[in-house]
Amino acid sequence: MFFEELLADDGRVEPRDEMPDAYRRLLVRQIAQHAHSEIIGMQPEGNWISRAPSLRRKAILMAKVQDEAGHGLYLYAAAETLGVDREDLLDQLHTGRQKYSSIFNYPTLTWADVGAIGWLVDGAAIVNQVPLCRCSYGPYGRAMVRVCKEESFHQRQGFEILHTLSHGTPAQQAMAQDAVDRYWWPALMMFGPPDADSPHSAQSMAWGIKRFSNDELRQRFIDMTVPQSEALGLSLPDPDLRWNEERGHYDSGAIDFTELTEVVSGRGPCNAQRMAHRVKAHEDGAWVREAASAYAAKQAAREGAA
Ligand SMILES: [Fe+2]
Ligand SMILES: [Fe+2]
Repeated sequence: MFFEELLADDGRVEPRDEMPDAYRRLLVRQIAQHAHSEIIGMQPEGNWISRAPSLRRKAILMAKVQDEAGHGLYLYAAAETLGVDREDLLDQLHTGRQKYSSIFNYPTLTWADVGAIGWLVDGAAIVNQVPLCRCSYGPYGRAMVRVCKEESFHQRQGFEILHTLSHGTPAQQAMAQDAVDRYWWPALMMFGPPDADSPHSAQSMAWGIKRFSNDELRQRFIDMTVPQSEALGLSLPDPDLRWNEERGHYDSGAIDFTELTEVVSGRGPCNAQRMAHRVKAHEDGAWVREAASAYAAKQAAREGAA
């Protein structure tokens, strides 16, 4: 009863509060998938740290990739407040039982891709995540506040990279346009399937986890991004994109969701590579986890003796 009253009152559910098992399970699934996306998302851009075109760009990109590790950390910690173990969540990622955002299965072919990812992928992430700051589960909502502030820095740095390239030489302009052409549709797919085919959405909305539908958020992203593309002097690869005065929104072309299904099912361009890299990083980090546990045990023993 307490749970329903709290939700009706737009209150926050906290870790020790009573909550239905299905609510807990849905949150664990969503927060874990979100956390996995943050850390897998370090890879496409991490590829470019050693090849960033200047010291300034390198410093910014390193800070950005490090932020994503931090986002993973807040989110795994938020998931742990629901009674799950981080080791176990990572194991589910490594064995393919839990997913991460399919956007990170696309390759970063040129430096302009780092700009397109910041502008479009982090931009789409912000649109998805700002409403999560009001999520009914307290620890998740609070983690999202800081994540969103950092994402907005990521989006601006991407925009600035593309702005520099689109005002550069013809070759740089072409590189920027090519990156936008490749990332536009995958960024739109980040909002998930159309509302009619989104099985978890209704329950998620009823529980105050999700505040807007996939299609509403996708529309918001399109409306926000089209004027920005004009400021960049870059076009978006959709011939059907035009302002609809009556609706007060941009109309856009149909999305090829068969591609999304392919990538989500593990047949995207980089799925195997991303997973192999993640598992290796985890194995290589075993000694750090062992050392940290040994240190913690020693500290606890010392405190116990004192
Ligand atoms: Fe992030
Ligand atoms: Fe980001």
